[in-house]
Amino acid sequence: MPIEPTMTIGGKPATSDDRIDVPNPANLETIVGRFPNGSAAHAAGAVQAAADAFPAWRDTSPTQRGELLMQASAVANERGNELMSLLTAENGKTLLESFIDFQIAAMTLGYYAPHAEWLAEQVLDDGNRRLRVQKQPIGVCAAIIPWNFPVGLACGKIGPALMAGNTVVVKVPEFAPLATLECLAAVASVFPPGVLNVVSGFGPEVGAALVKDPRVRKVAFVGSTETGKAVMADAASHLASVTLELGGNDAALVLDDAELDEQAVKRIVNGAFAASGQICFAIKRLYVHESRYDELVDKLRSTIGQMVVGDGSRPDVTMGPLNNERQFNKVKGLLAATRDAGLDVVELGSYADDTDPAGGFFLLPHIVLNPPDDATVVSCEQMGPVLPVMKFADVEEAVRRANDSPYGLASSVWSRDFERAAAVGSRLEAGATWINSHNLGSMTVDGPFGGYKESGVGQEFGGEFGLSQYTQYKTITDNYIGM
Ligand code: NAI
Ligand code: MG
Repeated sequence: MPIEPTMTIGGKPATSDDRIDVPNPANLETIVGRFPNGSAAHAAGAVQAAADAFPAWRDTSPTQRGELLMQASAVANERGNELMSLLTAENGKTLLESFIDFQIAAMTLGYYAPHAEWLAEQVLDDGNRRLRVQKQPIGVCAAIIPWNFPVGLACGKIGPALMAGNTVVVKVPEFAPLATLECLAAVASVFPPGVLNVVSGFGPEVGAALVKDPRVRKVAFVGSTETGKAVMADAASHLASVTLELGGNDAALVLDDAELDEQAVKRIVNGAFAASGQICFAIKRLYVHESRYDELVDKLRSTIGQMVVGDGSRPDVTMGPLNNERQFNKVKGLLAATRDAGLDVVELGSYADDTDPAGGFFLLPHIVLNPPDDATVVSCEQMGPVLPVMKFADVEEAVRRANDSPYGLASSVWSRDFERAAAVGSRLEAGATWINSHNLGSMTVDGPFGGYKESGVGQEFGGEFGLSQYTQYKTITDNYIGM
């Protein structure tokens, strides 16, 4: 039976007569469920509910808000155990990857919750002069989320936004919305009605309606660079602040002294091919010192060669299909163009037993051997299981080539010498550089995260800093300077 979740507006389920089918990308004949095709009117209703709930939520103490967020975190964790298979069925990624999505959700909902002190007022009072600096909530925040890690990304916004005293409207993606609608309905029920609202529908209708609504004071968006530019332009109409986490074309630099044992090679492969490469900060360009190139390519061939592609719900499958037809056609087209350009494209891995490769959006993992930097497979954000592997002669050259991109999300440096790697990393134009690591496990909420250049605007996470991104500062003084 296909599942039919609802939106959540003002603490109540809301739906639409128009429902959109969500196919299983591993088995296109199966409809996993239907989501309500929300309209601009639903967006407006959700913003109204959030605006109505704002004054009371703002005046709730941070400690109380934190207690509710701890409950919400437990709910996401529990519901995650039940909803993992639904997420895999609609998204395509493996059960482990769906489990991680819910773990990120539970973690980010709970992360700020014990830290009411991060919102404390700063007080200066020397007998003559009094100064108060308060961190106040911004108001109604909209969170607009893509399909690759929908639950974790949504909760990464909800956690700090609610802790800081804002109210929220989440717009779930049109691809893979079902598990997120279900989970967030349960999460919303922890809070007073209207504190957390959830709408579904298409970006140009319901997403744009949220961004253009003058009552929305902050938009936290995750998705493509192109859509991010439209969101920023729309938010400018009423000067809402934006945080944009956009595309990446992440470079990994393997230096001459890198440890390339089995674990390291597995981490590189996972960094490029987890979720079929559909992660904003996946390794999308691998630069290898010429002295280690053949060795690493041999190891990549053998490790990627063991990957098993098929329905992500099967325990023997290590890589699921791509999520949707547009993404599938884009990556297939990129592969065809790369082959047509005469480049050395190597297909690896195999299909799980009884898999019909034409029955879903399946692609085997590929590597492309030493393409020039101006090849599209190197310069574009592929968001798929295709990894170009380039050779470099010296570190200066590698840094220059890595930085020669409009993107700058994350990056990594692989070396036995942490200080050497960190020195190289600090010169990479990207919001994060991970040493000997580059995957979902590399991200930590303890440090700020966000893209340089066209990979984003604003940064999030990083303890107190991350929470402050959902606040505005208010300065209160008496006759301070004494004029
Ligand atoms: P998208 O950026 O178009 O959509 C992300 C979210 O924004 C969705 O919820 C969508 O409904 C909403 N949206 C779309 N247009 C909007 C508008 N005008 N105003 C407000 N909200 C709007 O990404 P999509 O369509 O899923 O994928 C397109 C391409 O973006 C992919 O092929 C991929 O290359 C890239 N992408 C990158 C991601 C990353 O994490 N770096 C994540 C998703 C997509
Ligand atoms: Mg690329």
